Amino acid sequence: MLAPGLLIGNGFVFGVPGSGKSFFCKQGMGQVFLNTDDDVIVIDPMHEYFDIAKTFGGAIVNMSAYKKNYVNPLDADLAHINEKGIRDVIADKSEFMLGICDQLLGSTLNQKHHSIIDRCVRELYMGAFKTRKVPLMTDFYHILKSQTEMEAQELALCLELFVEGSLNIFNHHTNVDEDNRFTVYGIQDLGTQLAPVAMLVMMEAIQSRIIENGKKGRATWLYVDECHVLLNSEYSATYLQQLWKKVRKQGGLCTGISQNVTDLLQNYIASTLISNSEFITLLKQSNIDSAKLAEVIGVSDAQLRFVSNAPSGTGLIKCGTTVIPFDNTIGKDTDLYKLYNTNIHEKIAMGLASPVCQTEACPIDKEEELADNSAAQGNSWLIY
Ligand SMILES: Nc1ncnc2c1ncn2[C@@H]1O[C@H](COP(=O)(O)OP(=O)(O)OP(=O)(O)O)[C@@H](O)[C@H]1O
Ligand SMILES: [Mg+2]
Repeated sequence: MLAPGLLIGNGFVFGVPGSGKSFFCKQGMGQVFLNTDDDVIVIDPMHEYFDIAKTFGGAIVNMSAYKKNYVNPLDADLAHINEKGIRDVIADKSEFMLGICDQLLGSTLNQKHHSIIDRCVRELYMGAFKTRKVPLMTDFYHILKSQTEMEAQELALCLELFVEGSLNIFNHHTNVDEDNRFTVYGIQDLGTQLAPVAMLVMMEAIQSRIIENGKKGRATWLYVDECHVLLNSEYSATYLQQLWKKVRKQGGLCTGISQNVTDLLQNYIASTLISNSEFITLLKQSNIDSAKLAEVIGVSDAQLRFVSNAPSGTGLIKCGTTVIPFDNTIGKDTDLYKLYNTNIHEKIAMGLASPVCQTEACPIDKEEELADNSAAQGNSWLIY
């Protein structure tokens, strides 16, 4: 198991479906949450980490069913910032707005658009710096509208979606509990229109949180399950790459989780992430992957035999040049197994899930009903 407090940096967990990747990471998250003061953030495409978030009193930000609580992508800690700090914020937010506009304009963004966005972001944050008030998308929209160029009007028209249209969910001040140490971002069922933008907003919120934590001297462990989902979209992939490179200096520790390493290696950004990673965990592998793995990750054939037919929960950790086999299986009768288990048949048999409504597929109204019941019982769930 990865010892909390041992800052071994970014990494990946690979293994065939059911090999225990999520389980392994949940064990790691549990250790970090319970034994350190570090933050844990999970990007959860299958909504399978909601249970742990609830158990740890964590926050769930459900990007596909925003109802009560919001993440403002333009959020920044303006209360404690100096002139140098505001310049960094402007650079970051300008890049973010470029990504959003590019996404909305369908990649037809030209140099003029770039300059206009940059100018407006500067005006927005210099104003916000003076008043110390966090801006919203509406503020950016109005600055754009007041520009004289035709391109600015074009951009404003696209951003109308954020002010009046279906994306106005991103036009509210953040009200996710900032002090919560365990946050899960659910991204299942994002509609095709919402998905790319929602992912950018989520990545922006995560990056800001890691940077803010870094300033407070607090480490942040980011787990990206099914990370090929983010790598499939150009902008979220670029963001992920930035996170991997940038946040290390701010105490960010990123772990990517994926089934197929060979597929990931076809993707240029994914291979950079893998080569910028300090540890790789291999759970059960298929034969085809093993040859490629030996070549890219540098584990010997003999070592790979250990994972070629490995039972769930056993595998290899490669950290630097050291390769360590591990057996991390835990008994089915333990509470931790019940919490981390994803086998729906077992969960139904144990009475932890109903055949009609599994947690991960549960509609948000049901989740809220569960939360309300929980609150009535004095438990501390936060459902977003
Ligand atoms: N350390 C472990 N100890 C005991 N059982 C385990 C362990 N790891 C995994 N398992 C068993 O394997 C099942 C599948 O694990 P998990 O959901 O983590 O797989 P996965 O690799 O994430 O699969 P997928 O790729 O489909 O997401 C668990 O529900 C559990 O029954
Ligand atoms: Mg999994």
